[in-house]
Amino acid sequence: MESLYEYQINQDSVGKNVTVAGWVSKRRDHGGVIFIDLRIANNIIQAVFNPEDKDSFIIAERLRNEYVVEVSGIVRERSKENINKNLISGNVEIVVDKIRLLNESKTPPFSINDLSVNEDQRLKYRYMDMRGEQLQKNMRLRSKLVESIRNFFYSHDFIDIETPVLTKTTPEGARDYLVPSRVHPGDFYALPQSPQIFKQTLMIGGIDKYFQIARCFRDEDLRADRQPEFTQLDVELAFANENIIYALIEELFKKIFKDILNESIINFENISYSDALNKYGCDKPDLRNPLVIKDIEGLVDKCEFKVFSDHLNQKDSRIVALRVPGGNKLSRKEIDELTKLAISCGAKGLAYLKCDSISDYDNGIISPIKKFLGPDVVNNIIKLTGSASGDIIFFSADKTNVVNASMSTLIKKLGEDLNLIKPAWKFLWVTNYPLFEKIEGSDKLTSLHHPFTSPLRDEDLNSNDILNIKSRAYDLVLNGNEIGGGSIRIHNPLIQKKVFELLNLTEDEIESKFGFFIEALSYGCPPHGGIAFGIDRLAMLLLEANSIREVIAFPKTQSSSCLLTNAPSSISDLQLEELSLKIDSKEE
Ligand code: AMO
Ligand code: AMP
Repeated sequence: MESLYEYQINQDSVGKNVTVAGWVSKRRDHGGVIFIDLRIANNIIQAVFNPEDKDSFIIAERLRNEYVVEVSGIVRERSKENINKNLISGNVEIVVDKIRLLNESKTPPFSINDLSVNEDQRLKYRYMDMRGEQLQKNMRLRSKLVESIRNFFYSHDFIDIETPVLTKTTPEGARDYLVPSRVHPGDFYALPQSPQIFKQTLMIGGIDKYFQIARCFRDEDLRADRQPEFTQLDVELAFANENIIYALIEELFKKIFKDILNESIINFENISYSDALNKYGCDKPDLRNPLVIKDIEGLVDKCEFKVFSDHLNQKDSRIVALRVPGGNKLSRKEIDELTKLAISCGAKGLAYLKCDSISDYDNGIISPIKKFLGPDVVNNIIKLTGSASGDIIFFSADKTNVVNASMSTLIKKLGEDLNLIKPAWKFLWVTNYPLFEKIEGSDKLTSLHHPFTSPLRDEDLNSNDILNIKSRAYDLVLNGNEIGGGSIRIHNPLIQKKVFELLNLTEDEIESKFGFFIEALSYGCPPHGGIAFGIDRLAMLLLEANSIREVIAFPKTQSSSCLLTNAPSSISDLQLEELSLKIDSKEE
């Protein structure tokens, strides 16, 4: 592509007359000579102004940070002691013979590349923040990631299709963002939580290989890895089964990691949802972390420790031990902190055995609960957990979900604090999810994935033990982060209807929300399945960024606002009237 300006100024440019343009990043006056660090996209090049060149020099004297200039001159090598190895153009400089001031700048609200600036300021002046190295790098990597993904799917004959943004509810478990219709007073569009229904409808339409880089909208509580609008790589295939999807996606990730990080990965492991919960207490374990939990109910069924005996032989309860290699060095204070962490997850305490010397029960095992267990039980626990001298063993006894939540949180915390996590990329398919789960605090059912997910066997839907029905859903987890999820879908309209009924939707609700879709399924829908990945999350992991906002050009804050534009904002009475809306009350 032809450009007005030179882009790559390096050793090869020495002796050439070049013209470049960019921002003034720094100006230094050195006894008559002025040096400007010129920021050009993600590069810095030094421009030199000599006083003999009067016209240029006068302009150079006026320059301030963030002024925009165009300079022309000869490229020369910098003297050895002035070479800056951190910069692409650090070994050359431009001796300026002509400068044009293209624009001035107000005094910047903060210095570019100042890492101490608070995030609200950075978001308000995002365009200034974006001039810094970090965002320049992140935006470029993200773009390369999308390029790599697109090339992969094009080369496999997938068709890239856009689906509507003004649509009907697409249930993914979050609240919908709604848009009032002016033309249909009192009616609302929903922004898609994902293109789920459309991608399945494409399968019915004979588009047998679909992908899209799609924007999704979910009104939910935000966390470090969540945004109210985010981007998915969305994929769907007709006549697919689990193995076809796994093979396709594994090939995709091998390409992404080669293209972006030049790494030849990678193994993909596999675990069932129930095994993941039993072993790690969560369904997105970080396989780099060696810590695992073990059920010890069979070892403590005769001991008199009330904390354990209260949870023996109870449905929905667990008693587990967590061995932490090298954990006996944890101080009292650190154990208290971990106890608080467990309590914040609902646990009632955090019993432990410090194993200074496992062969010396009397003096080598330090624990407030030792007296309740006795030497035989302690030894059996040590054996089962594979503990050694120098370790600590933590215990949790409670309702299964409390034990799982507190132990998985401890596993993560201890893995980080004790440096047990070694750098690596660990991919894990989590499979065999239950089809339904209970909505917390109620008896109602909800889909664990979404209601279009196929049960493992259609006839399972007649089971009395609804919560035990397995589905054909899968998630892909990378280093403890859920990066994608999908399933083989229901393609039989009767089965789809039955699932809605089990979810307690009335005939009318099914008809008004999903009638069109059930009808579509009844015109020869091919068996199909797919998956979607969080592009933002993936970019965040590839960049080792600690917030999803670092990989999004214009992200929203924790409270879902945009500090640059001040969205969301109020609208005029006229607009409200046009939309047939009235605001009841408004907090100022
Ligand atoms: P799911 O809801 O699991 O599946 O979403 C797929 C992936 O999208 C990412 N993700 C998010 N990223 C940032 N902010 C959010 N608020 C957010 N929510 C989800 C995650 C997640 O793994 N339609 C199904 C896919 C399918 O069945 O094919 C779906 O959307 O990385
Ligand atoms: P207590 O008998 O309540 O003083 O508890 C004795 C030890 O067991 C303390 O270290 C508590 O932190 C711990 N503990 C109490 N309840 C539980 C529980 N449900 N699971 C694991 N440890 C617990």
